[in-house]
Parts: sequence; C-alpha cells; structure tokens
Amino acid sequence: MDRLLTTLDNALRTLSGTSHASRPCPVPPSPGAPLDDAQRRLSGALMRVNQVGEVCAQALYNAQALVTQDPALKRQFEAAAREETDHLAWTQQRLVELGAHTSWLNPLWYAGAFGIGLLAGRAGDGVSLGFVVETERQVEQHLQGHLERLPAEDSASRVIVAQMQADEVRHAAQAHSAGAVELPAPVRGVMKLAAAVMTRTAHYL
Ligand SMILES: [Fe+2]
Ligand SMILES: [Fe+2]
Repeated sequence: MDRLLTTLDNALRTLSGTSHASRPCPVPPSPGAPLDDAQRRLSGALMRVNQVGEVCAQALYNAQALVTQDPALKRQFEAAAREETDHLAWTQQRLVELGAHTSWLNPLWYAGAFGIGLLAGRAGDGVSLGFVVETERQVEQHLQGHLERLPAEDSASRVIVAQMQADEVRHAAQAHSAGAVELPAPVRGVMKLAAAVMTRTAHYL
C-alpha cells in the first residue's frame, strides 16, 4: 500500500510539473547571444522532447523499483530516479524560459512507460537492468544528437543537456555493473522504434 501511494505521488508530481531538483540547474559560464524566433522555437521543441524523455524515465524507474524484490536494486532504481527528477525539473524550467509548452501527451507517455517498466521488472532483475542499460544508452545518443542540433547561441539549454548526458552514461554503467543482461537485438530495435515515435510526436505536441 505504502509503495503504491509513493508511486501515485510520483506520477502526480511528475505530471503536474511540481518536481523539485536536488542539484542546482547547470548554468553556462557566460550567457549566450539572444535567440531569434526560429532558434527559440527549435530549442523549445528539442527541450520538450527531452522533458518527455524525463517523464518516461520517472515512470520507468518507479515501475521497476515497485516490481523488484531486491532491496539493494530498489534503492539503486530510486537513486537514479532522483537524478532523473533533477533532469525533469531543469528541462521544465528551461521550457518556461523559452516560452514553450510541455507535451500535451505527457499523461499518455507516463502511462505507456510505466507499463513497459512493469513488464521489464516482471521479466526479472537481470532483464530489468538490461532494459535500463539499453534505454540510457539510447537516451545518451539521442542527447548527443540534440547537442548537435541545438542553436550554438542557446548555451543555457546546451549545459543542461550536457549534464543530463553525463548522468545517463553513469546510470547505464551502474546498471551494467549491477548485473544487466544484454537484451536481444529485436527488443532493442522495438525500443528504438518506440523512442522514435515518441520523439517525433513530442517535437510538435
Ligand atoms: Fe535523465
Ligand atoms: Fe538516466
């Protein structure tokens, strides 16, 4: 019951945009040049996609923490989820600064990711960790793509994305050393496809 309430509380905080970061938001050493309208729109779309990714990360980690029977692994999932909460709060704050909205489909993304997290968790801890490794790797590559696409002038978004990328690399490494199983190629392919649908939709919606 306790665990269910914690899960529900996390879902509500994630979707209502009231999550608080425990680390300060990264700031660039010097403010970039002002953005023109097209640059602001592009940054807003890319940061919206990243915010959706973090909504999904909350759902995945919380579902996996709910299902595992291993207390140490549960603590690891919860610790990673706290860092993802920082990412969530930072991307949200940046969207406000850019005058962009969060995805209107966030409840749907959260529900879908939560279901996938439950499935991964039910497949056993090794698979659940393997799923974390693959997800974090894909997110890390995706963030690299965004570092290439974000306007050079938008240093405020760029430092946030760079810190997120460093954290995701660490999450993958931690899950790997906790005993992750390598997922079969078809599963990794389906995950890539699902991520592509999400990122393309969230770019606009
Ligand atoms: Fe993240
Ligand atoms: Fe992560």
